[in-house]
Amino acid sequence: MRSILNITDLSLEELDQLIATAEDMIADPKKYSEVCRGKKLATLFFEPSTRTRLSFEAAMLELGGSVLGFSEASSSSAAKGESVADTTRVVGCYADIIAMRHPKEGAPVVAARKAGVPVINAGDGGHNHPTQTLADLLTIWRNRHTFEGLTIGMCGDLKFGRTVHSLVGAMARYAGVKFVFISPEELKIPQYVITDELEPRNIPYKEVTTMEEVMPELDVLYMTRVQGERFFNEADYIRLRDTYILTPEKLTTAKEDLIIMHPLPRVNEISVKVDDDPRACYFQQVLNGKFMRAALIMKLLEVNV
Ligand code: CP
Repeated sequence: MRSILNITDLSLEELDQLIATAEDMIADPKKYSEVCRGKKLATLFFEPSTRTRLSFEAAMLELGGSVLGFSEASSSSAAKGESVADTTRVVGCYADIIAMRHPKEGAPVVAARKAGVPVINAGDGGHNHPTQTLADLLTIWRNRHTFEGLTIGMCGDLKFGRTVHSLVGAMARYAGVKFVFISPEELKIPQYVITDELEPRNIPYKEVTTMEEVMPELDVLYMTRVQGERFFNEADYIRLRDTYILTPEKLTTAKEDLIIMHPLPRVNEISVKVDDDPRACYFQQVLNGKFMRAALIMKLLEVNV
């Protein structure tokens, strides 16, 4: 039995396999429509979600399985004081696999020790979001057919943006990748990400404060929302939330094959005027997430087609 708590729990070969499975499911969904018949996925979401929870549930339903769970802590016995360890141990009696989101960093690690079934980290605080990274990887793959040699700009809240931390962990393992971190001083990428992922592999990176100064060099622009829910001080959030707003004007110096990504939800970071730009890939990411989560469920349940 295996859980996925961090994107680096998956080898590059396994990422390739998940992408191949997702591509095959996109091409021939009927082939997969019964493979999880009789299996149950529990979605335990202690934090709000639209995409992650619903795409996990859609994925399991499209594999012929069933879903159960809760979408907020207040409707579970966590509201009465039950621990994450006890909650997941209980749910492991009902479900074959668990996808869990929690505001506390590391909570899925505790869950994985106690559940008795595979646990997938569906986002833990400001730490990691490995299945968003699976969606991101399929999006990059379908647009570029390689991960190597890309210059990836990450813009916005790089401090609390868990999708950023996981995507750096994944992309840092491919040859020739460079990173450009675009953020205000207060929301810089955490030092541990640089120390753990970039420095040991001598991966080039730079930190800048405007997207305009680096736009022409980017192959991927990964926009992120300022994570208001993780701020201690509302005044700081209000001051920083609109630091970066991507508009068609700012894209005039960008490459013609730039991939514009965003894990969503978007607040103000990308003008809706960018949505019709053929380089805008953020709604592709949403759909890709469903197929990659289906591929991951199959892998962890050891289901073969
Ligand atoms: N990208 C993402 O995690 O979206 P949700 O918060 O809606 O799940």
